[in-house]
Amino acid sequence: MTNEAIIELKNIDVTFHNKGQTVNAVKDVSLTVNRGDIYGVVGYSGAGKSTLVRVINRLQPPTAGTVVVNGQDILHLTPRKLRAARTKIGMIFQHFNLMDARTIADNVGYPLRFRLSKKNRQEKVAHLLDLVGLSEKANDYPAQLSGGQKQRVAIARALANDPEILISDEATSALDPKTTSSILELLKRLNKELGLTVVLITHEMEAVKEICNKVAVMESGEIIERGDLVSIFSQPKKPLTQDFINTATQINQALEKIYKQASALNLSDHQQLVQLQYVGASTDAPLITELYKRYDVVSNILYGNVEILQDTPLGNLIVVMSGEPDKLQDAWQYCQDAGIKITHLKPTDSEVA
Ligand SMILES: Nc1ncnc2c1ncn2[C@@H]1O[C@H](COP(=O)(O)OP(=O)(O)OP(=O)(O)O)[C@@H](O)[C@H]1O
Ligand SMILES: [Mg+2]
Repeated sequence: MTNEAIIELKNIDVTFHNKGQTVNAVKDVSLTVNRGDIYGVVGYSGAGKSTLVRVINRLQPPTAGTVVVNGQDILHLTPRKLRAARTKIGMIFQHFNLMDARTIADNVGYPLRFRLSKKNRQEKVAHLLDLVGLSEKANDYPAQLSGGQKQRVAIARALANDPEILISDEATSALDPKTTSSILELLKRLNKELGLTVVLITHEMEAVKEICNKVAVMESGEIIERGDLVSIFSQPKKPLTQDFINTATQINQALEKIYKQASALNLSDHQQLVQLQYVGASTDAPLITELYKRYDVVSNILYGNVEILQDTPLGNLIVVMSGEPDKLQDAWQYCQDAGIKITHLKPTDSEVA
């Protein structure tokens, strides 16, 4: 990773007018992606993710704002220069968009059909198929491949023109979790080996967690939060971000179960259900011992999880803490002073039901 910007979107608006209705799909979004980043853009359906990334190669002209890619002002290029610039921005999609009547090799070689001699093209295609681990499928047809293999073909095709940027728009959304992981691993390897900059659009923070170094969260056409992966995961500021993270770290799933049993937990006023989040090497066991020794507070762990993000451990615990009310306060203060984020959990009536 360097600090050299490869994509600079400034104050981008995209407004659609449809049958008398106005949709502000992207609102005043600025985004800088550095060379070598794997930048995640996460948001629910309709947040404006696809519209925003289509602005990068001007597939979607913005209503306002500026777009600089690789130092070029994309909005003021001649058609010929725009075509050239676009070849350096590869794209992959959820539905692969392969040509069913052509072989795998022909699909991959398609973007090169006017550019290279037959021999050079065959060599290039063989190299690309090798890169994505599909050499033996060269003469097969898309219908003979699994979803994961099809996406590998799409990736090989997207790399045919040696792009510097790869935009992945929900490329793993149609795949099962294991296949998703293998595709994400491939993107990560291409990022490392080829220096490829990746913009990864997804509605799953899980995917972001696996390979991204940076992430932006979109809601209603705006980027509501952004930053490097570890700080977003350890210090999310917006509830939506926290929600995405809680799903990716299985906390929401655990909470659902815990809330269902909340009445069984039968908490007294000397007990509190809390979530503890901590970053770095500090582990749960010494903390819990410390809270007991110092404040007579007993912590009963209901759920625990440690994620390794970019080599940094990020821990999550859901515990019932029991103790004298003022001692509980002291214990929480102690946690906070130790850099541990505390969230007091309270099952709402609907969640208990
Ligand atoms: N060509 C278009 N004409 C009119 N409205 C559009 C057009 N393209 C997108 N929109 C609207 O813009 C908003 C953002 O759409 P967009 O496809 O960018 O969302 P998204 O975050 O990619 O969603 P998803 O996760 O479902 O792919 C939506 O309200 C959508 O209906
Ligand atoms: Mg989309």
